[in-house]
Amino acid sequence: MAHRSELIASDIDAYLKAHEEKTLLRFITCGSVDDGKSTLIGRMLYEAQLIFDDQVSTLQNESKRQGTQEGEIDFALLVDGLAAEREQGITIDVAYRFFSTERRKFIVADTPGHEQYTRNMVTGASTADVAVILVDATQGVLTQTRRHSFITSMLGIKHVVLAINKMDLAGYDRATFDGIVDDYMDFAANLQFETVTPIPLSALKGDNVIERSGEMTWYTGPTLLGFLETVEVRGRQLKHPFRFPVQWVNRPNSRFRGYSGCIVAGEVSEGDTLRVLPSGEEAVVSEIILFEDKLKRAEAGQSVTLTLDREVDISRGDVLASAQAPCEVSDQFDASIVWMDAEHGFVGRSYWLMLGTNRVNATITDIRFKYNINTLEELGSRDLQLNDIGRVTLSFDKGVPFESYTDCPGLGSFVLIDRYSNHTVAAGMINFALRRATNVHRHKLTVDRQAREKLNGHKAKIVWFTGLSGSGKSTITNAVEQVLHAQGVRTYVLDGDNVRHGLNRDLGFTDADRVENIRRIAEVGKLMVDAGLVVLTAFISPFRSERDMARALFDDDQFVEVYLDVPLDVAESRDPKGLYKKARRGDLPHFTGIDSPYEVPEKPELIVSTHELTLEQCVAKVLEKI
Ligand code: ADX
Repeated sequence: MAHRSELIASDIDAYLKAHEEKTLLRFITCGSVDDGKSTLIGRMLYEAQLIFDDQVSTLQNESKRQGTQEGEIDFALLVDGLAAEREQGITIDVAYRFFSTERRKFIVADTPGHEQYTRNMVTGASTADVAVILVDATQGVLTQTRRHSFITSMLGIKHVVLAINKMDLAGYDRATFDGIVDDYMDFAANLQFETVTPIPLSALKGDNVIERSGEMTWYTGPTLLGFLETVEVRGRQLKHPFRFPVQWVNRPNSRFRGYSGCIVAGEVSEGDTLRVLPSGEEAVVSEIILFEDKLKRAEAGQSVTLTLDREVDISRGDVLASAQAPCEVSDQFDASIVWMDAEHGFVGRSYWLMLGTNRVNATITDIRFKYNINTLEELGSRDLQLNDIGRVTLSFDKGVPFESYTDCPGLGSFVLIDRYSNHTVAAGMINFALRRATNVHRHKLTVDRQAREKLNGHKAKIVWFTGLSGSGKSTITNAVEQVLHAQGVRTYVLDGDNVRHGLNRDLGFTDADRVENIRRIAEVGKLMVDAGLVVLTAFISPFRSERDMARALFDDDQFVEVYLDVPLDVAESRDPKGLYKKARRGDLPHFTGIDSPYEVPEKPELIVSTHELTLEQCVAKVLEKI
């Protein structure tokens, strides 16, 4: 209907030309599954005649068979059916659907899925001009609606359609519509939208989607498609200085070396001078290659290979930027973040972070606050939970080229990945770099660890004991230290119960506090090893992540992880402080092994089963290892 131009039959060239010149609008639809999102997209595709005839007949048959829509076509089946097909493919988080009308071309980021919804939304929204936020007229504005709106605003989308769907179920009632609009507008006043366009519609019956509704004559605004055809689109990142994150170094033979990737902002021409970041070297573009072709110039959105006029050291993750207007490099940031995993996020824990084509180690150094999504109030917190939106500071293990998200989404957005599960746990946007790191320098001291080790007559080390409460950590560290001390070794024991009376007095036993407990101990241990000591630590240290974080602070031969492996029932029967009894009674929440997890070490240097050996035997095993 909409896009089947007469021109297709009469003058195909003219049709194609007209088609090429149409502007492109990218939009996303947000809403929960029951809001009718699939039905809405299905109807638009159907009415724009993008469904093939065989799909239509399958659809009619399926609709009859499933009987969900009383003989009418169930458009949701179409979209969901395609989604199922797609899920058999590899990994596409967001499927982009393309359709066009006489006036415009459209790409809609279809963001299916349930629990993964937020993540898909973030990925789909970063390039969108408009967000269509669906509200079920019978439900009104929900927390979910507010969350999607907030993320939309955070991602810099300026135009929102408040699509109040299922008006047929609300008797096409004007007061219902007005009530929802008022409610939403109160909330949206705090967000950064330029326009909010409320439209009453029924995706199922087709009211105000493409055709004006005969049932809601009181509504005089645009139909959904009418709005999408005319809303102004945001310019692509062409005026911005050139930014090209290198995806891979293309080196088929010794004579050719090219750098491949996608231009995320600006344009580049042969002869342009580029700066390589972070190294700061400069070179001139010799060739711009697109498949077999050589281009004179290329722009944002194109994936190309560049060759340069001289040999420079460039690897994946580096950014080639305009030499006149290069971007900055930093390793500490203030960022906005959306948490998307069931596993919580903690201050002090480190993750893989992907920014541009870079992958670095990143630690959340602070959660400045998270939002109460209904009131937009800022709340203090030490962890981030599924769907939380907050403001954090991040520290990377090396400097990376970046820009703020508002200046250049391609170099200002990132995802965090859990190192063990490989899940994408968060998506975020860089607000700005923190200067504190760049103004703090390391002093080189003349007396160093090697000098102290020489004086002591032995190497410095850290022996990291881990295991359940009651596994014998304190007893064994104490005994090991006695022997070492008698041998003239300079030692120190860091013990959970003792440290929690001083340095870590402010910490309890929530997951977040345990992460911070271990982070501090690891840092203190590092200082003590630098001081030349043999350090013995006795902490439950229940999480793999933090034990590995501790390990990463030391050289390979300095860190010895000792797992005291005793079954829970043995530890519980020992119960030296009566804490297991308390925990079983319910008087001590978050007790390790009872209602708080212990993650068994995967590759400790030593495993000691303290219930099968005498204390002397345990001590001997440890001493042998160190
Ligand atoms: S850790 O998990 O953060 O590494 P840490 O080793 O410092 O714990 O402290 C554990 C000691 O604190 C235990 O040996 C026990 O005496 C005491 N304790 C008090 N409450 C708890 C609790 N909820 N879970 C575990 N240990 C607790």
